[in-house]
Amino acid sequence: MMIQQGISLQEYNTFGIDAQCNTALFIESKDDVHNHRHALSKAIILGGGSNILLTKSQYDIVAINQISHIEICKENREDVIVSIGSGKNWHETVLWAIDHHLGGIENLSLIPGTVGAGPIQNIGAYGCELKDVLVGLDFYDFDLQAWRYMSVSDCHLGYRDSIFKHELKNKGFIGTVYLRLTKEGYHQVNTQYSALQSYLSEKNIDIPNIEEVSNAVIAVRQSKLPNWKELGNAGSFFKNPVIHCHQLQHLQEDYPKIPSYPIDTQTAKVPAAWLIQECGFKGVKRGAVGCYKYQPLVIVNHGGGSGEDVINLKNEIQIAVYDRFQIQLQPEVTIL
Ligand code: EPU
Repeated sequence: MMIQQGISLQEYNTFGIDAQCNTALFIESKDDVHNHRHALSKAIILGGGSNILLTKSQYDIVAINQISHIEICKENREDVIVSIGSGKNWHETVLWAIDHHLGGIENLSLIPGTVGAGPIQNIGAYGCELKDVLVGLDFYDFDLQAWRYMSVSDCHLGYRDSIFKHELKNKGFIGTVYLRLTKEGYHQVNTQYSALQSYLSEKNIDIPNIEEVSNAVIAVRQSKLPNWKELGNAGSFFKNPVIHCHQLQHLQEDYPKIPSYPIDTQTAKVPAAWLIQECGFKGVKRGAVGCYKYQPLVIVNHGGGSGEDVINLKNEIQIAVYDRFQIQLQPEVTIL
Protein backbone atom coordinates (compact mmCIF):
# COMPACT_ATOMS: atom_id res chain seq x y z
CA MET A 1 0.00 0.00 0.00
CA MET A 2 1.24 3.47 -0.84
CA ILE A 3 0.76 6.44 1.50
CA GLN A 4 1.10 10.06 0.36
CA GLN A 5 1.00 13.18 2.50
CA GLY A 6 -0.50 16.54 1.55
CA ILE A 7 -1.87 15.88 -1.92
CA SER A 8 -4.53 17.64 -3.97
CA LEU A 9 -7.71 15.61 -4.56
CA GLN A 10 -8.43 17.36 -7.86
CA GLU A 11 -7.64 14.32 -10.00
CA TYR A 12 -9.55 11.98 -7.65
CA ASN A 13 -12.99 13.56 -8.08
CA THR A 14 -14.77 13.93 -11.42
CA PHE A 15 -16.09 17.39 -10.47
CA GLY A 16 -12.42 18.43 -10.55
CA ILE A 17 -12.69 20.29 -7.23
CA ASP A 18 -9.29 21.24 -5.86
CA ALA A 19 -9.44 20.19 -2.17
CA GLN A 20 -6.41 19.06 -0.15
CA CYS A 21 -5.95 15.99 2.00
CA ASN A 22 -3.38 15.39 4.76
CA THR A 23 -2.95 11.65 4.17
CA ALA A 24 -3.93 9.58 1.14
CA LEU A 25 -3.98 5.78 1.52
CA PHE A 26 -3.87 3.84 -1.76
CA ILE A 27 -5.60 0.53 -0.94
CA GLU A 28 -4.46 -2.31 -3.20
CA SER A 29 -5.68 -5.48 -1.49
CA LYS A 30 -8.12 -6.86 1.05
CA ASP A 31 -5.18 -7.31 3.44
CA ASP A 32 -4.50 -3.57 3.20
CA VAL A 33 -8.08 -2.98 4.34
CA HIS A 34 -7.68 -5.19 7.41
CA ASN A 35 -4.21 -3.88 8.28
CA HIS A 36 -5.27 -0.22 8.04
CA ARG A 37 -8.79 -0.64 9.46
CA HIS A 38 -8.38 2.03 12.14
CA ALA A 39 -7.25 4.72 9.71
CA LEU A 40 -9.87 3.58 7.18
CA SER A 41 -12.71 3.85 9.66
CA LYS A 42 -11.92 7.57 9.94
CA ALA A 43 -11.21 8.07 6.23
CA ILE A 44 -13.26 9.23 3.30
CA ILE A 45 -13.22 6.27 0.92
CA LEU A 46 -13.07 7.18 -2.76
CA GLY A 47 -13.62 4.89 -5.71
CA GLY A 48 -13.64 6.85 -8.93
CA GLY A 49 -14.78 9.98 -7.07
CA SER A 50 -17.59 10.24 -9.60
CA ASN A 51 -20.62 10.62 -7.37
CA ILE A 52 -19.31 12.96 -4.70
CA LEU A 53 -18.98 16.68 -4.13
CA LEU A 54 -16.06 17.89 -2.01
CA THR A 55 -17.20 20.95 -0.08
CA LYS A 56 -14.30 21.44 2.34
CA SER A 57 -10.91 22.82 1.40
CA GLN A 58 -9.05 20.29 3.58
CA TYR A 59 -9.71 16.63 4.46
CA ASP A 60 -7.71 14.53 6.89
CA ILE A 61 -7.48 10.90 5.67
CA VAL A 62 -8.68 9.84 2.23
CA ALA A 63 -8.50 6.24 1.00
CA ILE A 64 -8.30 5.60 -2.72
CA ASN A 65 -9.51 2.15 -3.65
CA GLN A 66 -7.28 0.38 -6.19
CA ILE A 67 -8.26 -3.28 -5.58
CA SER A 68 -8.82 -4.34 -9.15
CA HIS A 69 -8.76 -8.07 -9.94
CA ILE A 70 -11.39 -9.64 -12.21
CA GLU A 71 -12.06 -13.35 -12.77
CA ILE A 72 -14.78 -15.90 -13.41
CA CYS A 73 -15.19 -17.81 -10.16
CA LYS A 74 -18.13 -20.09 -11.00
CA GLU A 75 -19.62 -21.33 -14.23
CA ASN A 76 -22.93 -22.93 -15.17
CA ARG A 77 -24.43 -23.79 -18.55
CA GLU A 78 -26.26 -20.45 -18.84
CA ASP A 79 -24.25 -18.02 -16.78
CA VAL A 80 -21.12 -17.28 -14.78
CA ILE A 81 -20.33 -15.57 -11.51
CA VAL A 82 -17.59 -12.97 -11.89
CA SER A 83 -15.56 -11.81 -8.92
CA ILE A 84 -14.35 -8.22 -9.27
CA GLY A 85 -12.15 -6.03 -7.08
CA SER A 86 -14.13 -3.01 -5.90
CA GLY A 87 -11.50 -0.54 -7.13
CA LYS A 88 -11.75 -1.70 -10.73
CA ASN A 89 -13.08 0.87 -13.19
CA TRP A 90 -16.74 0.12 -13.98
CA HIS A 91 -16.65 0.78 -17.73
CA GLU A 92 -13.50 -1.38 -18.14
CA THR A 93 -15.48 -4.14 -16.44
CA VAL A 94 -18.32 -3.73 -18.96
CA LEU A 95 -15.82 -3.92 -21.84
CA TRP A 96 -14.17 -7.00 -20.28
CA ALA A 97 -17.59 -8.69 -20.06
CA ILE A 98 -18.40 -7.92 -23.70
CA ASP A 99 -14.96 -9.19 -24.76
CA HIS A 100 -15.69 -12.43 -22.92
CA HIS A 101 -19.19 -12.63 -24.52
CA LEU A 102 -20.84 -12.13 -21.12
CA GLY A 103 -24.11 -10.22 -20.95
CA GLY A 104 -26.11 -8.27 -18.38
CA ILE A 105 -24.21 -5.01 -17.89
CA GLU A 106 -24.00 -3.67 -21.46
CA ASN A 107 -26.75 -1.08 -20.70
CA LEU A 108 -24.53 0.26 -17.92
CA SER A 109 -21.72 1.14 -20.36
CA LEU A 110 -19.74 4.32 -19.74
CA ILE A 111 -21.02 4.91 -16.21
CA PRO A 112 -18.07 6.58 -14.49
CA GLY A 113 -16.59 5.28 -11.26
CA THR A 114 -15.55 1.98 -9.78
CA VAL A 115 -17.23 -1.38 -9.32
CA GLY A 116 -17.40 -0.90 -5.54
CA ALA A 117 -19.34 2.34 -5.90
CA GLY A 118 -21.99 0.51 -7.94
CA PRO A 119 -23.87 -1.12 -5.04
CA ILE A 120 -23.78 2.05 -2.92
CA GLN A 121 -26.18 3.85 -5.20
CA ASN A 122 -27.42 0.85 -7.21
CA ILE A 123 -26.17 2.37 -10.47
CA GLY A 124 -28.73 2.29 -13.23
CA ALA A 125 -29.23 3.50 -16.78
CA TYR A 126 -31.23 2.69 -19.92
CA GLY A 127 -33.60 0.25 -18.27
CA CYS A 128 -31.07 -1.75 -16.20
CA GLU A 129 -29.86 -1.52 -12.63
CA LEU A 130 -26.99 -3.17 -10.80
CA LYS A 131 -29.52 -5.07 -8.67
CA ASP A 132 -30.47 -7.09 -11.78
CA VAL A 133 -26.99 -8.72 -11.86
CA LEU A 134 -25.53 -8.34 -8.36
CA VAL A 135 -25.19 -11.62 -6.46
CA GLY A 136 -23.44 -10.25 -3.38
CA LEU A 137 -20.27 -8.66 -2.08
CA ASP A 138 -17.60 -8.93 0.60
CA PHE A 139 -17.91 -6.15 3.16
CA TYR A 140 -15.21 -5.31 5.68
CA ASP A 141 -17.13 -4.46 8.83
CA PHE A 142 -15.24 -1.91 10.95
CA ASP A 143 -17.12 -2.99 14.11
CA LEU A 144 -16.48 -6.72 13.57
CA GLN A 145 -12.98 -5.99 12.24
CA ALA A 146 -13.53 -8.78 9.72
CA TRP A 147 -14.86 -9.46 6.23
CA ARG A 148 -18.42 -10.70 5.88
CA TYR A 149 -20.42 -11.75 2.83
CA MET A 150 -23.59 -9.81 2.04
CA SER A 151 -26.10 -11.16 -0.49
CA VAL A 152 -27.92 -8.80 -2.84
CA SER A 153 -30.99 -8.87 -0.60
CA ASP A 154 -28.84 -7.85 2.40
CA CYS A 155 -27.82 -4.73 0.42
CA HIS A 156 -31.42 -3.31 0.33
CA LEU A 157 -30.99 -1.87 -3.16
CA GLY A 158 -33.57 0.69 -4.31
CA TYR A 159 -33.64 3.56 -6.80
CA ARG A 160 -30.16 5.14 -6.37
CA ASP A 161 -30.19 3.77 -2.84
CA SER A 162 -28.83 0.97 -0.61
CA ILE A 163 -28.07 0.05 2.98
CA PHE A 164 -24.62 1.65 2.43
CA LYS A 165 -26.31 5.08 2.36
CA HIS A 166 -28.14 4.37 5.64
CA GLU A 167 -27.38 1.79 8.38
CA LEU A 168 -23.97 0.90 6.96
CA LYS A 169 -22.89 4.43 6.00
CA ASN A 170 -19.21 4.83 7.03
CA LYS A 171 -19.38 1.42 8.74
CA GLY A 172 -17.12 -0.55 6.43
CA PHE A 173 -15.43 -1.09 3.09
CA ILE A 174 -16.80 -2.92 0.04
CA GLY A 175 -14.17 -5.38 -1.23
CA THR A 176 -15.02 -7.97 -3.86
CA VAL A 177 -18.28 -7.64 -5.82
CA TYR A 178 -19.90 -10.72 -7.39
CA LEU A 179 -22.01 -10.36 -10.55
CA ARG A 180 -24.03 -12.99 -12.42
CA LEU A 181 -23.54 -12.57 -16.18
CA THR A 182 -25.16 -14.58 -18.96
CA LYS A 183 -23.27 -16.67 -21.52
CA GLU A 184 -23.70 -16.52 -25.29
CA GLY A 185 -27.12 -17.87 -26.26
CA TYR A 186 -28.67 -16.81 -22.94
CA HIS A 187 -28.39 -13.02 -23.17
CA GLN A 188 -31.53 -10.97 -22.62
CA VAL A 189 -30.89 -7.69 -24.37
CA ASN A 190 -32.95 -4.74 -23.16
CA THR A 191 -33.54 -1.99 -25.70
CA GLN A 192 -36.91 -0.73 -24.42
CA TYR A 193 -35.49 2.73 -23.79
CA SER A 194 -36.63 4.87 -26.71
CA ALA A 195 -33.28 6.62 -27.24
CA LEU A 196 -31.65 3.20 -27.73
CA GLN A 197 -34.38 2.07 -30.10
CA SER A 198 -33.99 5.18 -32.28
CA TYR A 199 -30.21 4.75 -32.43
CA LEU A 200 -30.47 1.05 -33.37
CA SER A 201 -33.17 1.56 -36.00
CA GLU A 202 -31.13 4.38 -37.58
CA LYS A 203 -28.31 1.84 -37.94
CA ASN A 204 -30.77 -0.80 -39.26
CA ILE A 205 -30.00 -3.15 -36.39
CA ASP A 206 -33.13 -5.24 -35.69
CA ILE A 207 -31.79 -7.80 -33.24
CA PRO A 208 -28.78 -6.25 -31.53
CA ASN A 209 -26.10 -8.27 -29.78
CA ILE A 210 -24.63 -7.12 -26.46
CA GLU A 211 -21.79 -5.24 -28.15
CA GLU A 212 -24.25 -3.31 -30.33
CA VAL A 213 -26.34 -2.45 -27.27
CA SER A 214 -23.21 -1.22 -25.50
CA ASN A 215 -22.26 0.90 -28.52
CA ALA A 216 -25.78 2.37 -28.62
CA VAL A 217 -25.63 3.26 -24.91
CA ILE A 218 -22.20 4.83 -25.36
CA ALA A 219 -23.43 6.95 -28.28
CA VAL A 220 -26.59 8.09 -26.45
CA ARG A 221 -24.68 8.90 -23.26
CA GLN A 222 -22.02 10.83 -25.18
CA SER A 223 -24.69 12.91 -26.89
CA LYS A 224 -26.37 13.88 -23.58
CA LEU A 225 -23.82 13.73 -20.82
CA PRO A 226 -20.56 15.67 -20.59
CA ASN A 227 -17.25 13.82 -20.37
CA TRP A 228 -15.88 14.66 -16.92
CA LYS A 229 -12.35 14.65 -18.31
CA GLU A 230 -13.33 17.70 -20.38
CA LEU A 231 -16.00 19.27 -18.17
CA GLY A 232 -16.07 18.37 -14.47
CA ASN A 233 -19.35 16.81 -13.28
CA ALA A 234 -20.79 13.98 -11.21
CA GLY A 235 -23.60 12.85 -13.54
CA SER A 236 -27.16 13.54 -12.41
CA PHE A 237 -26.93 15.89 -9.46
CA PHE A 238 -30.48 15.17 -8.20
CA LYS A 239 -32.66 12.07 -8.06
CA ASN A 240 -35.83 11.97 -10.13
CA PRO A 241 -38.51 12.80 -7.54
CA VAL A 242 -41.38 10.45 -6.77
CA ILE A 243 -44.63 12.31 -6.12
CA HIS A 244 -48.18 11.38 -5.16
CA CYS A 245 -50.66 10.98 -8.05
CA HIS A 246 -52.88 13.69 -6.56
CA GLN A 247 -50.03 16.18 -6.72
CA LEU A 248 -49.30 15.09 -10.30
CA GLN A 249 -52.94 15.61 -11.35
CA HIS A 250 -52.88 19.02 -9.75
CA LEU A 251 -49.65 19.94 -11.59
CA GLN A 252 -51.04 18.61 -14.90
CA GLU A 253 -53.78 21.26 -14.74
CA ASP A 254 -51.16 24.02 -14.89
CA TYR A 255 -48.50 22.08 -16.83
CA PRO A 256 -50.24 19.68 -19.25
CA LYS A 257 -46.87 18.68 -20.74
CA ILE A 258 -45.26 17.53 -17.48
CA PRO A 259 -43.69 14.09 -18.20
CA SER A 260 -44.25 11.31 -15.65
CA TYR A 261 -43.68 7.58 -15.24
CA PRO A 262 -46.06 5.63 -12.98
CA ILE A 263 -44.38 3.71 -10.14
CA ASP A 264 -47.53 2.18 -8.61
CA THR A 265 -51.19 3.16 -8.26
CA GLN A 266 -50.35 5.93 -5.79
CA THR A 267 -47.09 7.44 -7.03
CA ALA A 268 -45.24 8.56 -10.16
CA LYS A 269 -41.69 9.61 -11.00
CA VAL A 270 -41.17 13.00 -12.61
CA PRO A 271 -37.92 13.81 -14.48
CA ALA A 272 -35.90 16.28 -12.43
CA ALA A 273 -34.34 17.45 -15.73
CA TRP A 274 -37.74 18.68 -16.94
CA LEU A 275 -38.50 20.54 -13.70
CA ILE A 276 -35.08 22.22 -13.75
CA GLN A 277 -35.40 23.12 -17.43
CA GLU A 278 -38.86 24.65 -16.85
CA CYS A 279 -37.30 26.87 -14.18
CA GLY A 280 -34.91 28.19 -16.83
CA PHE A 281 -31.66 26.60 -15.66
CA LYS A 282 -30.65 24.72 -18.83
CA GLY A 283 -27.19 25.96 -19.78
CA VAL A 284 -27.05 28.69 -17.08
CA LYS A 285 -23.70 29.72 -15.62
CA ARG A 286 -23.04 30.94 -12.10
CA GLY A 287 -19.39 31.92 -12.09
CA ALA A 288 -17.31 28.80 -12.71
CA VAL A 289 -20.21 26.34 -12.39
CA GLY A 290 -23.49 25.82 -14.22
CA CYS A 291 -26.13 23.44 -15.58
CA TYR A 292 -25.10 21.43 -18.63
CA LYS A 293 -26.54 22.78 -21.87
CA TYR A 294 -27.88 19.41 -23.08
CA GLN A 295 -28.98 17.94 -19.71
CA PRO A 296 -29.69 20.44 -16.92
CA LEU A 297 -29.76 17.67 -14.28
CA VAL A 298 -25.98 17.63 -14.57
CA ILE A 299 -24.16 20.42 -12.72
CA VAL A 300 -20.83 21.15 -14.38
CA ASN A 301 -17.58 22.79 -13.29
CA HIS A 302 -16.26 24.95 -16.13
CA GLY A 303 -12.92 25.15 -14.33
CA GLY A 304 -11.83 26.46 -10.96
CA GLY A 305 -15.27 26.04 -9.32
CA SER A 306 -15.41 25.22 -5.62
CA GLY A 307 -17.71 22.89 -3.70
CA GLU A 308 -19.37 26.00 -2.28
CA ASP A 309 -20.13 27.30 -5.80
CA VAL A 310 -21.87 24.01 -6.59
CA ILE A 311 -23.81 24.08 -3.31
CA ASN A 312 -25.01 27.62 -4.05
CA LEU A 313 -26.32 26.56 -7.46
CA LYS A 314 -27.86 23.39 -5.98
CA ASN A 315 -29.71 25.54 -3.40
CA GLU A 316 -30.87 27.98 -6.07
CA ILE A 317 -32.27 25.11 -8.18
CA GLN A 318 -33.97 23.45 -5.19
CA ILE A 319 -35.65 26.72 -4.17
CA ALA A 320 -36.80 27.52 -7.72
CA VAL A 321 -38.21 24.01 -8.31
CA TYR A 322 -39.95 24.02 -4.92
CA ASP A 323 -41.45 27.50 -5.42
CA ARG A 324 -42.83 26.54 -8.79
CA PHE A 325 -43.86 22.89 -8.36
CA GLN A 326 -43.81 22.27 -4.57
CA ILE A 327 -41.40 19.40 -5.20
CA GLN A 328 -38.30 19.06 -3.03
CA LEU A 329 -35.40 17.77 -5.15
CA GLN A 330 -33.00 15.47 -3.28
CA PRO A 331 -29.31 15.33 -4.25
CA GLU A 332 -28.19 12.09 -5.83
CA VAL A 333 -24.55 13.03 -5.33
CA THR A 334 -22.98 12.45 -1.91
CA ILE A 335 -21.95 15.75 -0.35
CA LEU A 336 -18.76 15.45 1.71
N1 EPU B 1 -35.50 16.04 -19.94
C1 EPU B 1 -35.74 17.37 -20.14
N2 EPU B 1 -34.71 18.15 -20.57
C2 EPU B 1 -33.48 17.65 -20.84
C3 EPU B 1 -33.22 16.30 -20.64
C4 EPU B 1 -34.26 15.49 -20.18
O1 EPU B 1 -36.85 17.85 -19.93
O2 EPU B 1 -32.61 18.44 -21.22
C5 EPU B 1 -36.61 15.19 -19.45
C6 EPU B 1 -37.35 14.58 -20.59
O3 EPU B 1 -38.72 14.52 -20.26
C7 EPU B 1 -36.79 13.18 -20.67
C8 EPU B 1 -36.57 12.88 -19.20
O4 EPU B 1 -36.13 14.14 -18.64
O5 EPU B 1 -37.66 12.28 -21.25
C9 EPU B 1 -35.56 11.80 -18.92
O6 EPU B 1 -34.30 12.21 -19.41
P1 EPU B 1 -33.09 11.20 -19.59
O7 EPU B 1 -33.51 10.06 -20.42
O8 EPU B 1 -31.89 11.98 -20.00
O9 EPU B 1 -32.86 10.58 -18.14
P2 EPU B 1 -32.87 11.20 -16.69
O10 EPU B 1 -34.09 10.72 -15.99
O11 EPU B 1 -32.61 12.65 -16.70
C10 EPU B 1 -31.73 9.07 -15.64
C11 EPU B 1 -30.58 8.82 -14.71
C12 EPU B 1 -29.27 8.87 -15.48
C13 EPU B 1 -29.31 7.81 -16.59
C14 EPU B 1 -30.51 8.11 -17.51
C15 EPU B 1 -30.70 7.05 -18.55
C16 EPU B 1 -31.29 9.61 -12.54
C17 EPU B 1 -31.17 10.68 -11.49
N3 EPU B 1 -30.58 9.80 -13.63
O12 EPU B 1 -31.59 10.42 -16.08
O13 EPU B 1 -28.22 8.52 -14.59
O14 EPU B 1 -28.11 7.82 -17.35
O15 EPU B 1 -31.73 8.15 -16.70
O16 EPU B 1 -31.21 5.88 -18.00
O17 EPU B 1 -32.02 8.64 -12.33
C18 EPU B 1 -26.59 9.38 -13.09
O18 EPU B 1 -27.16 8.74 -12.21
O19 EPU B 1 -25.57 10.08 -12.85
C19 EPU B 1 -27.13 9.36 -14.45
C20 EPU B 1 -26.59 10.04 -15.43
